[in-house]
Amino acid sequence: MELVRLLLVVAHIIGLSLIIGPFLFQVSRKSHFDTKLMQIGALTQLVTGLALVGVREADDLAVDHVKIGVKLVVTVLAVVTVFLAARKQKAADAGRAAPKSPLPFFHSTGALAVLNVFIAVLWT
Ligand code: HEM
Repeated sequence: MELVRLLLVVAHIIGLSLIIGPFLFQVSRKSHFDTKLMQIGALTQLVTGLALVGVREADDLAVDHVKIGVKLVVTVLAVVTVFLAARKQKAADAGRAAPKSPLPFFHSTGALAVLNVFIAVLWT
């Protein structure tokens, strides 16, 4: 079970890099956002995070439920904002929305992911 937990932690770290990497790469853009990897990353964080809680509970390891609850809410918001960014980008590409319309959702997704890193590391 310990190996499963450690492999989930690896997947969790790769998931966070899939959100924050593409976010930083495109952060200076005003339009034309590619959010595909960020969508995969946000969903990865949701799935691996919940799996980590399950594995920790099963192994009788400590779980701070308030911290996990906050991280869960932040992650759900990141999932929502990244899919809204993708939808707005599609509309902008089709000429049905302003080119800059995905920008606030794109920035929110990156900010929420960075917020969760702070919560994960600083909330002890
Ligand atoms: C964008 C979303 C997320 C980010 C950026 C993130 C980030 C991190 C980071 C950096 C760590 C390592 C912290 C350390 O070892 O000091 C961690 C661990 C952990 N995260 Fe997340 N997380 C996210 C979402 C979630 C969600 C949604 C859950 C659960 C619902 C969750 C549950 C956990 C658990 C249980 C651990 C401890 C793993 C262990 O060492 O056994 N995370 N997270």
